[in-house]
Amino acid sequence: MCSSRQGCSDKYLHGCWWLARNRVKFIWKNPWGDKMKDAGRVVWFNGKLVPESEAKISIYDSALMFGDMVFEMTRSFNGRQFKLREHINRLYAGIKILRVPMTLSPDEMEKAVHETIEANQPFFAPDDEHRILIDVTRGLLGLYHDVVGHEKGTNVIIADFPLRWTVAGMGRLFDGGINSVITSQRAIPASLLEPKIKNRSRMFYMMANIEASAMEGKDNWALLLDPDGFIAEGTGSNFFIVKDGNVITPEPRNILRGISRAYILEELCSQLGIKAIEKNIETYDVYTADEAFLTSTPLCMLPVTRFNGTPIGSGTVGPVYKRLLKQWSENAGVDIAAQIKAWNEAHQLNADAPTPYRFKGK
Ligand SMILES: Cc1ncc(COP(=O)(O)O)c(C=O)c1O
Repeated sequence: MCSSRQGCSDKYLHGCWWLARNRVKFIWKNPWGDKMKDAGRVVWFNGKLVPESEAKISIYDSALMFGDMVFEMTRSFNGRQFKLREHINRLYAGIKILRVPMTLSPDEMEKAVHETIEANQPFFAPDDEHRILIDVTRGLLGLYHDVVGHEKGTNVIIADFPLRWTVAGMGRLFDGGINSVITSQRAIPASLLEPKIKNRSRMFYMMANIEASAMEGKDNWALLLDPDGFIAEGTGSNFFIVKDGNVITPEPRNILRGISRAYILEELCSQLGIKAIEKNIETYDVYTADEAFLTSTPLCMLPVTRFNGTPIGSGTVGPVYKRLLKQWSENAGVDIAAQIKAWNEAHQLNADAPTPYRFKGK
């Protein structure tokens, strides 16, 4: 074998390149272990499947300049995407309102998601789930259109990431619950920035998470009030209380209308004969609730056992929460909490780096 690049024949160089590109197919013994950096996953990027590390947008993209973009995150149960069409519909509502030029139809988007999953399946553990992230950016701002080497128009990116890494370390929260803490950082109401559009202008969530991380105690997750002092939502989740057997959640005004939230309200509660109510919730109502929980796509539902450090109800995971989670698990054919707990041991990555829900892993 030659020792210098210069001395190598074209054929040898081509062989090296080909091996490098395809290395995972041959030498990857444990693609679902710790090696999350470059496990061979591909991303659907403007119509082409490209390696995750090669999917890049310009520094002049409107998303970076303005946080001007919409996105969606979906998850699978036993490999099948849950409520994918509902997520795509919410995405297209944002695309419409923001007037992002879009040639891809919702049907084509759905097809592209399935293509992406199929291409990535070999790199997923058999017991993993696919967390799909769809990002849509407007592309280059007009004044940068002469910059070469980048798409000028809309960027559509579909990334497929193992769900086990998204929820790593969170399994124990299904038993102990979290402490929802009110931050001075409030939710931005619909009159200022429409939260029903799932958008990336999220600095205020980060501010709330930083604040929550500085509070005493552990498992503090920020809960934001709207400008009128009513509970709005978490930094990546919707909020619910249970009172006298009824499930109550904030009106869908100053919040993202979560797909999981809708599933609880429109399907699980009716399946279980539980009354579901949308109304303004004051902090007093949370302190005096029997139970509380939050909903979010990756975690489905998580118990909230404390509010600003005060136990909610008995301060343990409540019976209504348990019934709902059990029913969801049965409907999905996956024991949701057990699955996330099982992944816990497998991966404890970057526990001290921010996630959508908290600033630090305290
Ligand atoms: C601000 C916010 N609220 C609520 C949710 C929950 O929405 P979904 O159930 O559709 O995941 C999310 C999810 O990312 C969110 O970012």
